[in-house]
Amino acid sequence: MTLPIAVCVSGRGSNLGAIIDACANGRLNAHVVLVASSRANVAALDRARRAGVPSAEFAVTRATRAAAQAAMARAIREAGARLVVLAGYDRILADAFWDELGDVPVINIHPSLLPAFGGLNGIRVHEAVIAAGARESGATVHRAHRGTLDEGEIVVQRRVPVMPGEDAEALAARVLAEEHRAIVEAIALFGAHPAALARP
Ligand code: GRF
Repeated sequence: MTLPIAVCVSGRGSNLGAIIDACANGRLNAHVVLVASSRANVAALDRARRAGVPSAEFAVTRATRAAAQAAMARAIREAGARLVVLAGYDRILADAFWDELGDVPVINIHPSLLPAFGGLNGIRVHEAVIAAGARESGATVHRAHRGTLDEGEIVVQRRVPVMPGEDAEALAARVLAEEHRAIVEAIALFGAHPAALARP
């Protein structure tokens, strides 16, 4: 079976691009049934349109966060997704989202070796890694659950050495390349092991 997935985004969409490419070239036995964005006019929505993938905005500026995210969860269910991928989605998910989504599993990608450096965003993650003098960083894909941030069972982790003297931008770029591999691997695991789709 080809795994139907929904991808939630907010900005650049490079992880979304990696997923779309992997589906198109057969590395991933999955297809994106919906790209849901928390923001209008972002590169991720352009990427979805270019690939002919259905997309929609659930912008929290036009509604309360709970209402927008409940509508997003409804659209995800109606699209038939069996896995939700948070790929750079920049909002905490309200209870209304989880209530509406039911038992569709959700995974998130984070640019560090969780549990280290959770709860930070974007370049701040890499700045903190360098400031701490860590020798390695990486990418983590984990299950996401109601009321938690950057927590949940780890699905895939890929490690990246921190090079002596490198800055946060350089580290971010090398971690991002591993994110693109990790997110595809994680989705493939869910597709290959339907039991992983059940609630833990
Ligand atoms: C990635 O670094 C991801 O780990 C984090 O947000 C960023 C999204 O990048 N959650 P992109 O939109 O996929 O390019």
